[in-house]
Amino acid sequence: MLENSSNILFTVRWEKNSLVLIDQRKLPAKLSYFRCKTYQDVAFAIRNLVVRGAPAIGVTAAFGLVLASKKSKAKNITSFQKDLKKAYSLIRSTRPTAINLQWALDRIIEKTRNLDSVVKVKQAIFREAMKMAEEDILINKSMGLEGEILISDGDTIMTHCNAGSLATVAYGTALGVVRAAKGSGKNISVVATETRPVMQGSRLTVFELKHDQIDVSLIPDTAVGYTMSKGKIQHVIVGADRILKSGHVFNKIGTYQLAVLAKRHKIPFYVAAPLSTFDLNNTLKDIIIEERSENEVKKIGKKLIAPKDVRVMNPAFDVTPPSLITRIITEKGILEPPYSKSIKKVFSNLF
Ligand code: MRU
Repeated sequence: MLENSSNILFTVRWEKNSLVLIDQRKLPAKLSYFRCKTYQDVAFAIRNLVVRGAPAIGVTAAFGLVLASKKSKAKNITSFQKDLKKAYSLIRSTRPTAINLQWALDRIIEKTRNLDSVVKVKQAIFREAMKMAEEDILINKSMGLEGEILISDGDTIMTHCNAGSLATVAYGTALGVVRAAKGSGKNISVVATETRPVMQGSRLTVFELKHDQIDVSLIPDTAVGYTMSKGKIQHVIVGADRILKSGHVFNKIGTYQLAVLAKRHKIPFYVAAPLSTFDLNNTLKDIIIEERSENEVKKIGKKLIAPKDVRVMNPAFDVTPPSLITRIITEKGILEPPYSKSIKKVFSNLF
């Protein structure tokens, strides 16, 4: 399933003892690949947005531990665990907001417990990472099938950032719902926001929808309210980087604005995310919103577009309160408000 087959975009793929990532810094100009041979390469790739999007960085992080484990020369479990811990800490430090990163690292570490030889641990780590990558695609497809019943033939869906195949191993979360609706024969159009300052909307969402021949229009972030007010949008669907048990959703900066405007225009606002994006342990005050470089705002490419000494705020994520969210689409069904209840229920049904 992870092999690079014909026309499908595989964002994360294991090939010949290394991890191959679509280099998203180069899109849409060039579809090229970044090969990670060490866990340090993986940390570089996540930190510098070679790969991004919560599920994709989770699976990438898991393969970071595979690479660390393959490179380790440790002869006994204690020194092997030391090598693994070093890799865990470096990869964990790359980006703070998407919980999938920590979730994936912890899931791999969990598999190393109670095994009595380095060989067995190495095998277990590799098996689990491969399983996670394959599961990611299956989960996205289930989520798509759950969500697509909300969409009618002829609808136009607004999305923000990129929650598509480029944000996952393949298929996508929010855009997985779009793909499933299209797959069931509905005629669907997408309106993608640019998503300043990193432009995941214009560079990535538009690229992958055009690649799959799904109708898409691009709008500046500033045109969201106007476009909604003209009655052109039937649904908003976004992904998530972390969802708290209260139903608060952390996602790309600007998501909150879309949710407020959707409410104003009575447009349903959906979040599509796998259960691995839910954080049942922390509360709002515990979560770090990543602040990124001021150059992302002050410059376009190398060109300065603001006075160079201006003070810049560049938060990469915001928080949308549950009161603005119409439904949360997961692989285990569609959650309805009050989310504190429906989230609790979906997790208690798992055990
Ligand atoms: O900074 P990014 O590009 O990693 O942010 C990505 C997002 O905010 C996505 O919307 C989110 O990860 C959901 S991806 C299925």
